[in-house]
Amino acid sequence: MSTFTANLIFSVLFVVFGATRGFLGNGDKFRRKVEIITVWEYDDVNNTADPQQTAESSFYPPYELQNFLWSDLNETLDQSGLTVKLCGGERTESFLNGSLCLQFSAFESVGRDQPWPSLHHNANSSQLHVWLNGVTPRGNHSRFALEFQSVGDSGFQGRVDVHSSIDDEYTPSIFKVSQWVSSPVNQSGVWGYNQWKPVAYRKAVPVFEDATPCKHSQLVSMKRIPQSRLVQAYFTEDPQTHGLNISFGIDKDPVFYSDTKYISWTVLVGMGEPPADSFSTLIIIIITVGLGTPLVIIIVGGVFVWIRKRRSHSSGYEPIN
Ligand SMILES: *[C@@H]1O[C@H](CO)[C@@H](O)[C@H](O)[C@H]1NC(C)=O
Ligand SMILES: *[C@@H]1O[C@H](CO)[C@@H](O)[C@H](O)[C@H]1NC(C)=O
Ligand SMILES: *[C@@H]1O[C@H](CO)[C@@H](O)[C@H](O)[C@H]1NC(C)=O
Ligand SMILES: *[C@@H]1O[C@H](CO)[C@@H](O)[C@H](O)[C@H]1NC(C)=O
Ligand SMILES: *[C@@H]1O[C@H](CO)[C@@H](O)[C@H](O)[C@H]1NC(C)=O
Ligand SMILES: *[C@@H]1O[C@H](CO)[C@@H](O)[C@H](O)[C@H]1NC(C)=O
Ligand SMILES: *[C@@H]1O[C@H](CO)[C@@H](O)[C@H](O)[C@H]1NC(C)=O
Repeated sequence: MSTFTANLIFSVLFVVFGATRGFLGNGDKFRRKVEIITVWEYDDVNNTADPQQTAESSFYPPYELQNFLWSDLNETLDQSGLTVKLCGGERTESFLNGSLCLQFSAFESVGRDQPWPSLHHNANSSQLHVWLNGVTPRGNHSRFALEFQSVGDSGFQGRVDVHSSIDDEYTPSIFKVSQWVSSPVNQSGVWGYNQWKPVAYRKAVPVFEDATPCKHSQLVSMKRIPQSRLVQAYFTEDPQTHGLNISFGIDKDPVFYSDTKYISWTVLVGMGEPPADSFSTLIIIIITVGLGTPLVIIIVGGVFVWIRKRRSHSSGYEPIN
């Protein structure tokens, strides 16, 4: 069993108890990291799609993954052993016809998944795809947000960077990539990351019309370590907890969760430096042609004018004096 398969199975076990787990490795040293996901639902009566601007009274009790009932693992581990899918829910009416699903993927090499957002993965990263399908909303204007709490050994600091790109060929209309990186205090270098594109999809098969922006709240340092007994057992020494919320939708968005009863979002989790997006050969050709064509026209035009001038000089029209 390879290390990533082992990590994958550990992740799944942790999810069943309410957290996903990973190592932030760097050579001989490693740091432990556990991520806890909480699903928030709020009634967005003002249609801001911003939990930060929404009154606390509009929030419903959050869904804690550790209280979920999960599908049989045996059915969800795929043949290659690189993907695990788990679906589950609370024993409430909301989950009668629906579920929250998590799909973990590990990779043996560099590449991209076919479905959008087609994040650029490598062998040091694994991918988490989260979606809500058919879960009955509790409000008439329900929107969802995911809270990530990252519990890790002390001595690390986190920050969220947003990078722009002029290229959206892998994730149409999205020109940004966000990454939450952690690096050791007083040292340079990134040890681990969560990387995502600020987009969520409202249908199972993403197309352009069903994309909706997502945004992240500020990264905050949390005083208390999460309630999960597993996390408390895993970290005996004083760990650090950071958290942020990912919310879906945009201000004055006419589409609410209830319209499709589906929302999905993808994040890449890994160690080392986060992978950078690169241009494909096609785009390089297009840019070359795009920049090159005017240059060729200018040069050809210049030569043409020069030849005409020379011709007119040598064609016998001598100035009369
Ligand atoms: C994966 O991590 C190992 C150890 O940190 C490093 O040597 C290797 O270059 C990394 N691979 C990629 C594709 O980043
Ligand atoms: C809606 O907006 C008003 C005015 O900005 C604010 O007072 C109120 O708390 C908001 N309602 C909710 C549920 O956020
Ligand atoms: C998993 O599936 C295999 C065959 O599909 C079966 O033999 C095994 O008993 C199953 N294990 C569990 C725990 O259900
Ligand atoms: C679940 O689906 C059934 C049949 O489609 C429907 O009758 C029922 O009202 C649904 N329940 C909820 C809570 O949506
Ligand atoms: C949702 O809308 C229906 C009809 O418009 C209304 O009867 C119901 O009270 C509303 N529910 C909530 C939670 O606001
Ligand atoms: C980081 O550096 C500062 C000052 O240089 C020092 O006070 C602090 O203890 C260092 N922190 C760690 C974790 O090494
Ligand atoms: C995420 O949003 C919820 C609901 O507004 C809030 O209680 C929680 O503190 C937020 N978490 C972070 C890390 O900002």
